[in-house]
Amino acid sequence: TQQDASAKTVRDGFTSSFGVLAATLGSAVGLGNIWKFPYLTGANGGAGFLVVYLLATLLVGLPVMISEIMLGRAAKRDAVTTLVQFSPRGQPWWLVGAFGVLAAFLIMAFYSEVAAWVFAYVFKAIGGSILSSDPAVTSAAFGQLVSDPVQSLLWQWLVLAFIGGILLMGVSKGIEAVTKKLMPILFLLLIVLCVRSLMLPGAAEGLSFLFTPDFSKISGAVILTAMGLAFFKLSIGMGTMITYGSYFRDDQNIPATTVRVMAADLFVSMLAGIAIFPAVFSFGFEPAAGPSLVFITIPAVFASMPFGHVFMVLFFVLTAIAATGAMLSILEVPVSVLNGRFGISRPKAVVATLLLLALIGSTCALSGSLLADFKLFGFNMFDLFDEVSSKLIMPAGGIALCLFVGWVWGFDKMKAELSNHGALANEALLRKLFFLLRYVTPLLVLAVMLSGLGLI
Ligand code: PFF
Repeated sequence: TQQDASAKTVRDGFTSSFGVLAATLGSAVGLGNIWKFPYLTGANGGAGFLVVYLLATLLVGLPVMISEIMLGRAAKRDAVTTLVQFSPRGQPWWLVGAFGVLAAFLIMAFYSEVAAWVFAYVFKAIGGSILSSDPAVTSAAFGQLVSDPVQSLLWQWLVLAFIGGILLMGVSKGIEAVTKKLMPILFLLLIVLCVRSLMLPGAAEGLSFLFTPDFSKISGAVILTAMGLAFFKLSIGMGTMITYGSYFRDDQNIPATTVRVMAADLFVSMLAGIAIFPAVFSFGFEPAAGPSLVFITIPAVFASMPFGHVFMVLFFVLTAIAATGAMLSILEVPVSVLNGRFGISRPKAVVATLLLLALIGSTCALSGSLLADFKLFGFNMFDLFDEVSSKLIMPAGGIALCLFVGWVWGFDKMKAELSNHGALANEALLRKLFFLLRYVTPLLVLAVMLSGLGLI
């Protein structure tokens, strides 16, 4: 019938305002908050790092995120096509989208492996096999998992299949429906864990570690790490927010949604820090335990507290939920490009992306076992993909997007899109945002990249 035919031509997208928020926040909140943020804060001196991270979020994260969502919604296309469509003839801005697809594969390759450990730990936590207050025991248990090639690969493929299944259901019935259910649960679990942690004796020491700034550890490299974390956290600089922006409703207030997502994401990072550090200090563990903080220290911390078994299960369920929303958005970048740019059907695009990823991802899954000695530029594949995406591709993408909006797209188009074509009045703020995009943010990101990489 005619109705069926017209329904088919309507592009899938987010259907409700809460859905937009849940999906976008679901992308931002992830292993970045619970795995990366605490160990980077711990390793780089606590609150001093936090201050730099906050500045990067405001001066870089906010303008780049608004720009991406705006471009995506204006074009209603995938990340590559959006930039092709808006670029003057012969200017290769689409490269931002292409590098975004590359970054999506690199990030997903290691991210899915960390998620694999998290999913495995949900079951290990339930079974009680990681319930020991002796870090030597929990460390051996983690070592056994990462050094077992079969277990590492199988859990990774399981995670990929799970995320693929949700993506196959589509944008509104898959991504939106799932994140709408999961995000409220995530907040609930996190608050339960925070209260538990704050009630432990000696919690104050953990709080002061998190909130008393010491700037002596801040260097160019640390600032780049903090800025890289801001890009990674907000899922920006690689077209993810262009892609999600293309699913935004036309009446959605983009700047307000962005601010809300940023604030909520920050809140989750803080809550994660408050759930983790007081407990770590309370039982006399070391905070700067590196990436294994979550898999070695945390189980030992939980095992030390009354009812720790239950809280440990809750913690890993929470982390699995956070990782799910983020992985959906990372994979949606290549899936939407294959679908929108190359006309491949969505199911085929999902399967092709997953197969390629299983291949690339296996280099990360095996970086603790068969490929432990395989290094490029001094990094194993896991760390290399992490470094290249957070410290090179995403910041470079961020610079390009700012320059594109500031110098090519221009103020008038920006104003039209961000005011929903005149429905919202916010001229003065938009002028400030435009100034940031034109001059401040790109120069700042460039300077941080150069100094962090030791080039100036
Ligand atoms: N923002 C996610 C996190 O903090 O865990 C990670 C992420 C998601 C990075 C989506 C990049 C991306 F496109």
